[in-house]
Amino acid sequence: MKIIESSRELAPFQGGSLVATMGALHEGHASLIRTAKLAKHPVLVTIFVNPTQFGPSEDFSRYPRTLEVDLGLAETAGADAVFVPSIGDIYPDGIEIAKRQATELALPPTANQPKLEDAGRPTHFGGVCQVVARLFDLCRPSLAHFGEKDFQQLRVITQLVELNSDRWQALKIVPCKTVREPDGLAMSSRNRYLNVTQRQDALGLWRALQVARECENLSNAEVMMRATLEQHGLDPEYAVVRSSKTLCAIDATTNSARILVAAKLGEIRLIDNAPFGN
Ligand code: PAF
Repeated sequence: MKIIESSRELAPFQGGSLVATMGALHEGHASLIRTAKLAKHPVLVTIFVNPTQFGPSEDFSRYPRTLEVDLGLAETAGADAVFVPSIGDIYPDGIEIAKRQATELALPPTANQPKLEDAGRPTHFGGVCQVVARLFDLCRPSLAHFGEKDFQQLRVITQLVELNSDRWQALKIVPCKTVREPDGLAMSSRNRYLNVTQRQDALGLWRALQVARECENLSNAEVMMRATLEQHGLDPEYAVVRSSKTLCAIDATTNSARILVAAKLGEIRLIDNAPFGN
């Protein structure tokens, strides 16, 4: 596996399968890499903790950085190369200018209309769109794999690519199923912050999704989800059933729905989602 530290060395891996990450890799990322490998293209993993997607109250400097372990995991999962860009590779004009530019981008509607992740983190998707656009320009992938765990992010990036089909003509976004612990907890880099009690309580998210799937009626589902989250000591931020496509309220045109939850356990914020119906 090649470790690439400068965008000048990317050429042999352009046109391949991309798995973009911020590091702190876990089994969920390994599964993305294994899925990417099935396409028989070279698999390029990127590791870049992107400062522009962190809000002022989110601690960018505390984000886990575990590069040596990440490189081992990526290689075992089948990555052909890992690109660890410098700030200068991604933001040649420097971070301060990049942060301002991220707030000025025209974003896909799924980034600011649903009022889900975008409600509490208003600058987040500007930073995500900015960094993935830069990574797509540098890496020129033909496939890019993103997990359904961050469902709004997946929809935002999919729409970003659809809206810029002339810029990334050959690019296809591949959604990948959420990888779960045996008891149902979705894998996340944040799970490492949970203590033993919180780890048990965190299962409330998975249970809330199960409860909602058993409800036929949408507003019942939302009430039952909140109750389930609270029973587990979680502080719900949202617990909703939305259009899987727009992530906005269900209407007569909706033909596929998604259950989405976000809740806090102390300072730790967790999200999860699942299909609703069929
Ligand atoms: O999901 C992530 O890890 C990040 O948001 C991404 C897509 C790598 C952009 O920094």
